[in-house]
Amino acid sequence: MKTGIFYGSTTGNTENAAELIGKLIEDSQVQSIASASKSDLENYDLLILGTSTWGWGELQDDWADALDNVKSADLSGKAVALFGLGDQEAYTDTFVDGLLPICEAALAAGARLVGKWPTSGYHHQGSTAQDGDFFLGLALDEENQSAETEERINRWVDQLFTELR
Ligand SMILES: Cc1cc2nc3c(=O)[nH]c(=O)nc-3n(C[C@H](O)[C@H](O)[C@H](O)COP(=O)(O)O)c2cc1C
Repeated sequence: MKTGIFYGSTTGNTENAAELIGKLIEDSQVQSIASASKSDLENYDLLILGTSTWGWGELQDDWADALDNVKSADLSGKAVALFGLGDQEAYTDTFVDGLLPICEAALAAGARLVGKWPTSGYHHQGSTAQDGDFFLGLALDEENQSAETEERINRWVDQLFTELR
């Protein structure tokens, strides 16, 4: 299975997380979404898409530009997993909101979503990326819970490949 990990990152946190995820997955490639074409996205069996959230619940800039590429790609038969970087204390009502538009674009392109992540252990008040007791993907918080990042990534990658088995 070929895995493509695409990230949008303004200060490097999402990029670092993407690199950590990539180290755990054989036959994977890590690439900035800013340089990804539609055919780059179509080149993989599993897409792992990562974004940070800016403004009040806004998608990271590179992703805002790339969303049309995702929407118009043919991702049918492919699995998509999402991860989001955010700050659950300072932006407690819009925590990792950037995940939702990417999720909607990937589903519109025919992908199926894997890797929802439990909301337990987070202290946010609201998130458009929350569906019941789960986030649409892995939520990471370098401002408040950086000590948990590596362990969360390890568990999430295990979960992904269990779901895909
Ligand atoms: C001006 C500003 C606005 C932000 N807005 C949000 C937000 O609405 N929701 C959220 O979860 N995090 C928000 N954050 C936190 C960033 O998403 C977080 O710092 C993230 O780790 C940045 O990742 P990056 O370096 O990959 O861009 C904001 C940070 C700043 C400085």
